Amino acid sequence: MKGNRWEDHYARRARKEKWLARSVYKLQEIDNRFKLIREGNGLLDLGCYPGSWSQFGIKKVGPKGHVVGIDLTRPDRLSSPNFKFIQADVLTLSIEWLGREMRPRDMVMSDLAPQTTGIQAADTAAQCRWQEGQQKSPSRSSRKKAISSARYWKGRT
Ligand SMILES: C[S@@+](CC[C@H](N)C(=O)[O-])C[C@H]1O[C@@H](n2cnc3c(N)ncnc32)[C@H](O)[C@@H]1O
Repeated sequence: MKGNRWEDHYARRARKEKWLARSVYKLQEIDNRFKLIREGNGLLDLGCYPGSWSQFGIKKVGPKGHVVGIDLTRPDRLSSPNFKFIQADVLTLSIEWLGREMRPRDMVMSDLAPQTTGIQAADTAAQCRWQEGQQKSPSRSSRKKAISSARYWKGRT
């Protein structure tokens, strides 16, 4: 395959509009439809790197709101006074730890996804295992309002 396989209309548009990733348009579409993110909200963003969902969240919640992002990788191009990053594996976080470390959150959003290898069968199996783990993650089940994105690739099982 020639070039970056994720290079498309949305990737180009995201760059032009200064979003950190094209995945922002998924969140924008969900939020436009269901009006979930409100001014002053406290958001928890699971799998936040490179940062477009948090970036969108920061804009929507405004100066009185706050976003906490968790990922294995630090979003190095995102900085805002109302954004806090925690480098951690979300599948190992406990409800006790979340309760201690964070003030109450209004909403959890999750765009978590495993690293892909490009090998369809391996990626499909990893995604299925991973999705199962994510559903059981305490950080995901600790709030009533949640946006969760799940991606599945066409592949052999
Ligand atoms: C599709 S990206 C998220 C993109 C992000 N929503 C954005 O808009 O910029 C998925 C992220 O999930 C993270 N991730 C996968 N497994 C994780 C885990 N167990 N703990 C924390 N982060 C994880 C990856 O590091 C990756 O950055």
